Order: sequence, then C-alpha cells, then structure tokens
Amino acid sequence: MLNVENVRKTFGAVTVLDGVNLTVKPGEVVSVLGSSGSGKSTLIRCINGLERLDGGRITVDGFDVSRPKELAEARKRSGTVFQLFNLYPHMTALRNITLAPIEVLKRPKAEAEAEGRALLASVGLEDRADAYPAQLSGGQRQRVGICRALAMKPSYLLLDEVTSALDPEMTAEVLNILAKLAGNGTTMVFVTHEIEFARQISDRIVFLEKGVLLVDLPTRDFFAQDGGLAQPRVAQFLSKMRKD
Ligand SMILES: Nc1ncnc2c1ncn2[C@@H]1O[C@H](COP(=O)(O)OP(=O)(O)OP(=O)(O)O)[C@@H](O)[C@H]1O
Ligand SMILES: [Mg+2]
Repeated sequence: MLNVENVRKTFGAVTVLDGVNLTVKPGEVVSVLGSSGSGKSTLIRCINGLERLDGGRITVDGFDVSRPKELAEARKRSGTVFQLFNLYPHMTALRNITLAPIEVLKRPKAEAEAEGRALLASVGLEDRADAYPAQLSGGQRQRVGICRALAMKPSYLLLDEVTSALDPEMTAEVLNILAKLAGNGTTMVFVTHEIEFARQISDRIVFLEKGVLLVDLPTRDFFAQDGGLAQPRVAQFLSKMRKD
C-alpha cells in the first residue's frame, strides 16, 4: 500500500501541502486533480523522496521515504514519469530503459534488453530501440519514459501530467497506453488535467486545493451533484476545465 499520512510541506513561508492524507491500494487507479499551483507535483515529489517533509509520513509498501535507509526500497517500488521529458539525451531509447534495471537491480544485460524491447513493442515503438531522444517525437519520448518506469517493475506508477506538453494526437497515443496499463491492473497515481480520461480510467479521484486535499471519492461519486460537485471549488474547477 502507498500511504500518505498528514503530510505537510512548506517552501519558506508558503504551505504547499497542508495535512494531506491519501491511501492507494494495489490495483487502484487514483487521479489527482486541482488547479495549477495546488501542490500536485509537490505531492508526487514527496512520494518519491525528492522533497523533505515538514510533517507527516509517507510509506511505500511499508518503506518510509523519510528514512534514508528505506528510501531506496521505497523508490524501487514507485516508478515516476514527469511532465517534462527527462530521458538521458546521450543514450538510446533502449539504453534509457535498461540502465536502472542493469545498474540498480543488477539484472543481466541480455535479459534487461529483451525486456526493454518487449516494453517498447508494447507501446508501439519496437523499431525505435536505437533512436536517441532527439530523434523521437514528444509522444514517442513520453512512451519511452513510461517504459523506463515500467522496466523497474514498480508497484506504483506515478504520472505527473505526462501529456501536458503534447499535441492532441500525441496525447491520444500516450493516453491509449495508460488506458491499457490501467486495464492490466497497474496501480497508478495519475496527476492530470485530462478530466474525461481520468473519469474513464480512475477508481478514485482526489482534488487538491491550495495544498489541502478537499475531496477523495470514488470516480462516480466525484462527478455526482451530491458528491464532489457539491463542493463549490470542484464544481467551479470542472466547469472551467470543460470550457477550456
Ligand atoms: N522548489 C520550490 N520552491 C519554492 N516554491 C515552490 C517550489 N516548488 C513548488 N513551489 C510552489 O509550490 C506550489 C505548488 O507547486 P506544484 O508544482 O506542486 O503545483 P502543481 O499543482 O503541480 O501545479 P501545475 O498544475 O501548474 O503543475 C506553487 O505555489 C509553487 O510555486
Ligand atoms: Mg505540476
């Protein structure tokens, strides 16, 4: 289980996460919605141990990200794909994918490469294994990024606006892959502005507002008049997103 308990994070005088609680069980898809600046990326970075917590606790399958001795184990269990493409530019797509399995998990190279190629095939990129990031489209790069996270066989896949820098066609390519992963039972925490897609694939939706987790509901209830929509901020956010 992924457990976020009463987490507080401040940057200087600004409280960016204010007592956030979130539990993600194996097999669940949880989407995180909220306006720009509400703290979504910070929450993902905290789960990854990239930010020091100012209060509360985060455990990934029991490993506490705030304890230096447990962080590596926690990180192995959560694969992250970020908003901006962060592949290593001097490495091929395949090398980007096999690097951590070989170096961190000590997997034999041939095995890691066979798995890497199978992952690339699963996202329709079997013939791009030897391409460098600069030779790939944005959508292709993001698909490689997803393969790179999956190569570590994480218990939880954390996705931070993986389509926000893509045009509609590339967005569709990437969302197709994510829908397939959700269908296969991959556990995901999905930060997104793609409301309709989140509605289709999520078991639960949580809404962050100025660092406070205002709503945490099963997807159907989130979109119900007497559920999430009963919260004025959620109703306002959804109506604005639908107009844009
Ligand atoms: N390293 C930092 N130093 C100072 N302030 C920061 C830092 N990182 C984030 N913030 C602030 O924390 C708040 C939350 O930022 P965060 O990136 O988590 O928002 P977000 O919900 O992901 O927004 P977006 O939808 O635009 O990606 C913002 O006010 C931001 O300016
Ligand atoms: Mg963000």
